[in-house]
Amino acid sequence: MRVLVGISGASGAVFAVDFLKRCPGEKYLVVSDWGKALLKDELDMSYKDLAPYVEATFRDNDLAAPFSSGTNRYDAYIILPCSASTLAKIAFGIGDTLITRSAQVALKERMRLILCVRETPLSTGMLENALKVSREGAIIAPIMPPFYGRPETIDEMVAAYTKKLLPLVGADGGPGWRAELLGEDQRRPRIEYDPDSTMHEME
Ligand SMILES: Cc1cc2nc3c(=O)[nH]c(=O)nc-3n(C[C@H](O)[C@H](O)[C@H](O)COP(=O)(O)O)c2cc1C
Repeated sequence: MRVLVGISGASGAVFAVDFLKRCPGEKYLVVSDWGKALLKDELDMSYKDLAPYVEATFRDNDLAAPFSSGTNRYDAYIILPCSASTLAKIAFGIGDTLITRSAQVALKERMRLILCVRETPLSTGMLENALKVSREGAIIAPIMPPFYGRPETIDEMVAAYTKKLLPLVGADGGPGWRAELLGEDQRRPRIEYDPDSTMHEME
């Protein structure tokens, strides 16, 4: 599996670091200037600290890098976190950085593109940009960690979100919600599903 990872200058660098650690396969990294600033501000990290988790890192101003061309394929390209500015550029077909040019390529080549947008609140323009790229086939996966797993630490909260990204890029995300009820794992005893009892549990 080959995954291209872009880190742009939105808050949430911790999600990118956790994803890079969890995602198996061959990974390539591009970090924008503001992505680098946020890595430093939020985690005291440099993009160089991420080298152990990737095959190679390309400069965001290197438009001659391999993924500037559709001749180099991958299973998924994920921008995590994705700033509103990067989203807007992608929505309007601007490819003036390696992060945005690679997104332009992903859309034209119909390769999987996942945008982990992080901004709040969202303007009408941002929502329209997200809708536009979603209609073109990109997956909008806003950084919205779930809480049904009752995370007790920031690490657990971060993991609850990044684990949801793994199946989106084609990796194994582990057992799904109440997957034991589906009989996926034949070694486990089958459990009778009683929707009424579930409803009672929820009350
Ligand atoms: C500390 C800090 C936090 C920021 N957080 C966000 C954010 O959460 N979402 C966002 O869309 N932009 C955020 N920005 C603004 C972007 O960094 C800015 O628009 C930048 O031009 C994005 O460039 P890039 O997408 O090429 O990385 C933040 C900027 C700073 C300095």
